[in-house]
Amino acid sequence: MNIFSGKKILLGVTGGIAAYKSTFLTRLLVKAGASVRVILTPAARDFVTPLTLSTLSKNPVLSSFTNEDDDNDLWNNHVDLGLWADLMIIAPATANTMSKMVTGNIDNLLLAVYSSAKCPVYFAPAMDLDMYKHPSTTANFEKLASYGNYMIPAGDGELASGLSGKGRMAEPEEIMSFVGKQLEQDLPLFGKKCLITAGPTHESLDPVRFIGNHSTGKMGMALAHNLANRGAQVILIMGPSSVNSEHYFIHRIDVTSAQEMYDTVHKHIAHQDYAIFSAAVADYRPATTADQKIKKSADTLTIELVKNPDILASVGAMENRPFLVGFALETENELEHAFAKAKKKNTDLLILNSMKDKGAGFGTDTNKITMIDRLGNAEVFPLKSKELVAKDIIDEVIKRTQ
Ligand code: CTP
Repeated sequence: MNIFSGKKILLGVTGGIAAYKSTFLTRLLVKAGASVRVILTPAARDFVTPLTLSTLSKNPVLSSFTNEDDDNDLWNNHVDLGLWADLMIIAPATANTMSKMVTGNIDNLLLAVYSSAKCPVYFAPAMDLDMYKHPSTTANFEKLASYGNYMIPAGDGELASGLSGKGRMAEPEEIMSFVGKQLEQDLPLFGKKCLITAGPTHESLDPVRFIGNHSTGKMGMALAHNLANRGAQVILIMGPSSVNSEHYFIHRIDVTSAQEMYDTVHKHIAHQDYAIFSAAVADYRPATTADQKIKKSADTLTIELVKNPDILASVGAMENRPFLVGFALETENELEHAFAKAKKKNTDLLILNSMKDKGAGFGTDTNKITMIDRLGNAEVFPLKSKELVAKDIIDEVIKRTQ
């Protein structure tokens, strides 16, 4: 997975020799998981065929206001296209198209879509070196930047004219890297760091048995994805769980026992902006772990348990600790227990789950929470999917830290 995955991208291609590179760019974007719709200007059709680009983009290529190939003469609605896109890339952008983008001279579908698009627009100029240096071109670069458009600078090198200099369109890989970096930087939590614990812990009795609980790690995973989708770098410390965590901003570390989770948290906790402890940590572990399978003999078996370290409380006691979110799972006197827990563990926010609420807690895809802050305020939320609960929690964290 990468930053382009699932993105809806309009690729505008204008009439210059570099139009051939738009085929490679289309392929890279599709390979990266984006949905790509290509719009050609009439002049671009002399350089690259709609068939090539529709095959590579897996979508019909558009180049006029009406769809000539369609019996119904369907109108290609520039407003809908502009609203559909998460981002628009115009590559190559010729001097002619850029000047029309600046002045609002809307004489083809691409320019109509450009001027109605609400998404970020990137343009990759391509032209001969003297055109690139011409004052009208540089003035247009500045004007487009002042409209909020992102320019992907041209490179130096051999040009189609045979001359050498600045004006070569950036290579498709460079365009991918430029846009990818910008997309990351535009995310609201870009540069923020968050550590999350999730899932159950397993406390070994012997090589084949353990003490554990029913946690699946779904809530922690939803939190990790919500943060990562907003650009935060997430360290996810996960007890035994089969939930998939693949995301380019999530670094997952698998652990088994509470002690291992404790050690891993303390190895990574420094310099975190937020820490969210959603793991269902076993409070006790067997005093000893047998090297060999415990054999059945007497009618009863007594296992001595010793207390595990409380990971959340240990971070709550740190001097320079991150903004701290804990969970509390209660079965009775929920609010009273949760307030006491929040105080004892020194959390900034405590997320209370009551086992009395249907659809809350372990294994379900939904959750019902009450948020408790340091001042003793409690906000009750309705039953929601774990993804939406994660959004509510992260919205609250952001509200309280920015
Ligand atoms: N927690 C932790 N380390 C532990 C136990 C709990 O980090 N050894 C964290 C959990 O991840 C959760 C919070 O503490 O964020 C509360 O967990 P919970 O099981 O509700 O509370 P306990 O402290 O274990 O208290 P009790 O079981 O007595 O209710």
